[in-house]
Amino acid sequence: MKLAIIGHGYVGLVTAAVFADLGNTVWCVGRTPEKIEALKNGISPFYEPGLEEVVKKNVVAKRLIFTLSYSDAVRDAEIIFICVGTPSLANGEADLSSVFAAAGEIGKNLSGYAVVACKSTVPVGTNREVEKVINAVKLKNVQFDIASCPEFLREGTALHDTLNPDRIVIGADTQKAKDALLRLHEPIDGRFVITTIETAEMIKYAANTILATKISFANAVSFLCEKVGADVEKVMEGIGLDKRIGRQFLRAGVGYGGSCFPKDVKALIAMTKKYRTEGGLFEAVEKINKLSHEHFVEKVRKFFKGDLKNKRLAVLGLAFKPDTDDMRDAPSVPVIKDLVKLGARVFAYDPKAEVNAKRVLADIPIVYVSSVYEACKGSDAVLVLTEWNEFKQLDLIKMKKLLKNPVVFDGRNIYEPENMKKLGFKYFGTGRN
Ligand code: UGA
Repeated sequence: MKLAIIGHGYVGLVTAAVFADLGNTVWCVGRTPEKIEALKNGISPFYEPGLEEVVKKNVVAKRLIFTLSYSDAVRDAEIIFICVGTPSLANGEADLSSVFAAAGEIGKNLSGYAVVACKSTVPVGTNREVEKVINAVKLKNVQFDIASCPEFLREGTALHDTLNPDRIVIGADTQKAKDALLRLHEPIDGRFVITTIETAEMIKYAANTILATKISFANAVSFLCEKVGADVEKVMEGIGLDKRIGRQFLRAGVGYGGSCFPKDVKALIAMTKKYRTEGGLFEAVEKINKLSHEHFVEKVRKFFKGDLKNKRLAVLGLAFKPDTDDMRDAPSVPVIKDLVKLGARVFAYDPKAEVNAKRVLADIPIVYVSSVYEACKGSDAVLVLTEWNEFKQLDLIKMKKLLKNPVVFDGRNIYEPENMKKLGFKYFGTGRN
């Protein structure tokens, strides 16, 4: 099939690469000439394990074509996926300007029947608006259908998630549109949920919000665990083995971040306000997440008896999660900002996110170092903010020798408290000590 993909962010580029690899001809449209040039040479604008190899292979095979031209991409495409960003506006609502701009360009360039499917996460009702935008500019005799086909991939495991989805959700009005999307997804093993456009749009928000709810639930339990001397990891194992609950997304820590959960919980809250329904549960999820950042900083502050002035802190991990260089809404940002405000000197190391961190934390004085051991040298404490595998495999004896004080605040529970104590560390986990 000929496909057009609008956008080459996580969703767009991964979708383009996977469908090209499955034998389709995929035209991927972008707006930034430098990025399109780089992509033509197989260079991804972001780090995602394994992605560049698949992009390169399919560019060489001429199944994956990057372009600045909507007309080349949209002409004769059977399915057009909108995969542009929908960041939060100041009031929490999703900014849909890129979605509507893409819809306008698609409308102007449609040459025959196509399915225009939105993969971007968009509030309920947005696809109907996309339809109106296209109708206003398209040629009279050209037919199209809209569809909602939300994406569930995670950064860091994006290729695997796209090829092995738990479900594929297709929301459309016509059988023709459903059939086209079913045909495209046929080689991918996964259960289909075929439904209306509004339901498909809502599934994406409800999915991300229940995952964020699980995390905030684990974090709220972890606050209590620290007070009563319980171990949150065991508690989550104890409840997670109940199949109705499940163990995943119950890892307590410094809070969730990234380009999805914070923005999507906010947008869902904004929807409850717009339609005047009860949104307290979702607001609590967001509040607990913020408290998770603050609680971590407070623990460090308390240990140093309220005085962080000139304390040298080794921060391990900046990205919002491992295996990505993404810093969007990373918990490390509010945590580091607060620590620096309290007078601490932060020495930070991240295997991949340094460049993006420098942009996001531009006005914050941080020393970036190129290894864990360099960060630890002469530091008063170690703070783990992202659970990179590299940090799980450290030579802890070497780390202890380099530190001025053998103190570890583990915001991701990557170390075993008993083992750390045996090695002579003062260890503070999250929801367990
Ligand atoms: C999330 C969803 O998991 C995907 O299904 C969805 O497609 C995507 O958003 C999206 O809407 O595009 P992603 O943001 O890439 O994916 O990352 P996750 O693996 O879900 O992690 C999000 C945040 O939650 C990270 O900061 C992570 O550290 C945190 N987290 C995750 C926890 O604190 N505890 C957990 O148990 C799990």
